[in-house]
Amino acid sequence: MRLDVYFGAHSVTSADVQGRVVVVIDVLRASTTIAVALAHGARTVIPFESADEAVTRSKSLARGDYKLAGERKNQMIPGFDLGNSPREYTREAVEGKTILFTTTNGTSALIAVQPAREVLVGAFVNFTAVSAMLRAAARAQSDLAIIAAGSDRHFSLEDAVCAGRFVRSIRRGITDVSMNDGAQASVQLERRYANDLPRLFAESAHGRALADMGFAEDLATCAQLDGYPVVPVYHDRQVTKLGPDRER
Ligand code: MLT
Repeated sequence: MRLDVYFGAHSVTSADVQGRVVVVIDVLRASTTIAVALAHGARTVIPFESADEAVTRSKSLARGDYKLAGERKNQMIPGFDLGNSPREYTREAVEGKTILFTTTNGTSALIAVQPAREVLVGAFVNFTAVSAMLRAAARAQSDLAIIAAGSDRHFSLEDAVCAGRFVRSIRRGITDVSMNDGAQASVQLERRYANDLPRLFAESAHGRALADMGFAEDLATCAQLDGYPVVPVYHDRQVTKLGPDRER
């Protein structure tokens, strides 16, 4: 089976993901926020490329049923209900709600991989849960692709390290794996930071930018390994939590 890592959704073609099981990673912060929202009972998270598209969709929903959410330049979009800080996605704020979500990289990365057979959303906060799904797919000889969404359309250290952790976990006990150079590089990077996520965020450009903007507590949330053990699945243009009704 093939196991490839791609850095940035813009570098991914349909052929790279067609028929594969794909995981999209945007540790800081979109994929962490999606996991936290679903863990706290959000009904669904619908990704949009633009704020206008999210607002247009909101007009077809009752006001109490949705939250307009997301960021530009890391800050909440004016007029929206929530930003992209996972700490805002409390049970009180999101339980039962449809989250209409647009972020700079994470949501476009999800939209870009729609030709995939199955799309999961991964981060450190739901690492083991998502990893178990990927390992099961690998054992069934499905080809896998890991999309490290990056920051401002560029490579980001934290997504690459999280990708490397997935690669290491998927390969355990599986011998016939062919990997691209992205997968091999991510494993090397992961070795450097494996057990020190605070150091990873302190050394990554996006981590430092978030801390400078007053989001240091978000970094602590994003570093909670397996703190929100949900499996978010992107299907029919929306992300829902894998639960008993969708369990295989
Ligand atoms: C993104 O999707 O680009 C990020 O999640 C940005 C952020 O940290 O808010």
